[in-house]
Amino acid sequence: MENKLKIGIIGLGTVGCGVVKVLSQFNDIEIVKAAVKNLSKKRSVKIDNLTDDPFQIANDPDIDIVVEVAGGVEIMDALIAAIKNKKHIVTANKELLARHGAMLFDLARENNVVILYEAAVAGGIPIIFPIKTSLLANTFNSVAGILNGTTNYILTKMEEDNLSYNECLIKAQKLGYAETDPTGDVEGYDAMYKIAILANIVFNLRVDISKIYCEGITKITAEDIKIADELGYKIKLIAQAKRINKANRDDILDIRVHPMLVSKNKPLANTKDATNAVLLNGFPVDRVMFVGPGAGEFPTASSVAGDILSIKSEISQRTNILPMAVCHHNEYAIQIKIEDTINCYFLHIEAKSEPGIIGKIGCACAQFGINISYVIQKGTTEDGRATIIVLTEECFEKDMNAMIEKLELENLIKVKNKIRVM
Ligand SMILES: NC(=O)c1ccc[n+]([C@@H]2O[C@H](COP(=O)([O-])OP(=O)(O)OC[C@H]3O[C@@H](n4cnc5c(N)ncnc54)[C@H](OP(=O)(O)O)[C@@H]3O)[C@@H](O)[C@H]2O)c1
Repeated sequence: MENKLKIGIIGLGTVGCGVVKVLSQFNDIEIVKAAVKNLSKKRSVKIDNLTDDPFQIANDPDIDIVVEVAGGVEIMDALIAAIKNKKHIVTANKELLARHGAMLFDLARENNVVILYEAAVAGGIPIIFPIKTSLLANTFNSVAGILNGTTNYILTKMEEDNLSYNECLIKAQKLGYAETDPTGDVEGYDAMYKIAILANIVFNLRVDISKIYCEGITKITAEDIKIADELGYKIKLIAQAKRINKANRDDILDIRVHPMLVSKNKPLANTKDATNAVLLNGFPVDRVMFVGPGAGEFPTASSVAGDILSIKSEISQRTNILPMAVCHHNEYAIQIKIEDTINCYFLHIEAKSEPGIIGKIGCACAQFGINISYVIQKGTTEDGRATIIVLTEECFEKDMNAMIEKLELENLIKVKNKIRVM
């Protein structure tokens, strides 16, 4: 067939192979060339024209769209070359976009090409395009989600099987849900890149990832999960971005990633295993949630292939394609520090079991203007230590930290975990 759309793929790993398989169903799309790191590696797909130099793709005059599914930031120079060569880009690379998206989108705009990245956030869930199209009439107050399947799988298994974090991590690694080095997932960085990208398009503001507070799940214990369950909550790694209405400004954002207690009545609490979910809150739509597979060969390839086909459907029709996909905003958000955020808290405390200990915790809370909504002592150990659980009403993070510091300095308590409540 004449006028086939010519694709160059950088990366033939999990996602790249899925993309090749999915695109093989389309007679009018041709994969001209693919770049990999290791030419001799066995793969589940066969590409005739294989190279280990991504610039051979970026500089190939035959290629219309460069599909970047290699990952990492090192691939950026090849993408810059591709954009300068007027090639459209489809990428799944959240880290690259979260770190260098502003520069890449500016460059794409200058060169009248688009960068589409549906797969970069929540894998197979369509979220970027719905925000940019169907939900365009909305002003959003917040976006929150479970954006990392690995951590959601681990937390689900800790809860269902009453296992430790380490036991569940090993299980996740055996099943291929977690990488050998799981840092990017379990420390929250993967979710941080995704919420940065989401905040960017939800609020039309650029985001500095170095200012996003990020805390992973490694300190969550099976005991925390069990106690939270008794109180009616699940523990989830939540990535969220909220608009803070202050001083008549609409560019102040609270963006963060950390574990949270989520009431079992809330839909995010019931998002299990490796499933992802994104909850948007805005006017006029109110609350809308997207749920689905956040990763995996075919779900992710679905989003990548969708982006390729979107470009294909427009490419022959106009010179300035997919105007809605172009990044139009230049302003940076003002991002508030975690100390200045307001939250409800769950405190898992180990204290000396002595008369009046709960009263002392109550007094310290009162001193810092913190209202307790629930407190319980869950027995005493043989060596005289009491487990005390406190739930608080909303207070400033800095006041909570100061209260904890005071009690710990007085050697009265040790906070085993402080988890914010959604
Ligand atoms: N896996 C998922 O479910 C998923 C979901 C959403 C988004 N993503 C994103 O999709 C991207 C790819 O993920 P993946 O899981 O498919 O990774 P992967 O399985 O590790 O595959 C990466 C591929 O890129 C190739 N590669 C790496 N650096 C390269 C370079 N400098 N030049 C040429 N080729 C290079 C590798 O070559 P070799 O094979 O020769 O080593 C490999 O084929 C990442 O940005 C990831 O964050 C993945």
